Amino acid sequence: MRHSDLPLLQRWLQLPHVNAWWHEPLDLAGVAAKYGPRIDGIVPTHMFVIEHDGRAVGWIQWYRWSNYATHAAQLGAEPSAAGVDLAIGEVEMLGRGIGPSALRLFIARVVFAHDVSAVVCDPDERNTRSLRALEKAGFVFVRTIRLQGEAHDRRIAWLDRVHYIVNPVNQDM
Ligand SMILES: CC(C)(COP(=O)(O)OP(=O)(O)OC[C@H]1O[C@@H](n2cnc3c(N)ncnc32)[C@H](O)[C@@H]1OP(=O)(O)O)[C@@H](O)C(=O)NCCC(=O)NCCS
Repeated sequence: MRHSDLPLLQRWLQLPHVNAWWHEPLDLAGVAAKYGPRIDGIVPTHMFVIEHDGRAVGWIQWYRWSNYATHAAQLGAEPSAAGVDLAIGEVEMLGRGIGPSALRLFIARVVFAHDVSAVVCDPDERNTRSLRALEKAGFVFVRTIRLQGEAHDRRIAWLDRVHYIVNPVNQDM
């Protein structure tokens, strides 16, 4: 992701299907304030645009849980694990399997190119599309938790590095 992608990110964050789960309907200045430091490498969450047939359709980010220790402790994520979040921004591109494909490729080629032992995500348990997309990407659900200050549960989705390398779900990569 580059600074020139921020207007696109802002448009996607406004859309109801994204806002329902990301809760960041920011104006452009707010998006630049939050995401600009990530693009510049100041905040250790790494931002990427998802392209499909050369068109930007969404974004995906990863980070080391060791940089977000309070949150990680609530999940039981080990310091060597990473977190990944994504959204398909373009409404007409939902439900085509792009999310699971992006997860598989991104985790194999980008996240596991680093010394990362596992990927741990904590989707809202009501987000059935997200749960299914993670499952299709090879994640397993290990438990349900409730984060401090939240009024809903989250499922802990876990993808072990070793499991991922041997899992047949990756044979087409
Ligand atoms: C979650 C998300 C990344 C999944 O990507 P995707 O490309 O839509 O995923 P898929 O096409 O594989 O669909 C996943 C599941 O969603 C369900 N689904 C598909 N279309 C749907 C629709 N119109 N309404 C509700 N659920 C639908 C299906 O159960 C599907 O699984 P299936 O293929 O086994 O039937 C994407 O939907 C998204 O960006 N949603 C909004 C943001 C978000 O929730 N991000 C994740 C949490 S931070």
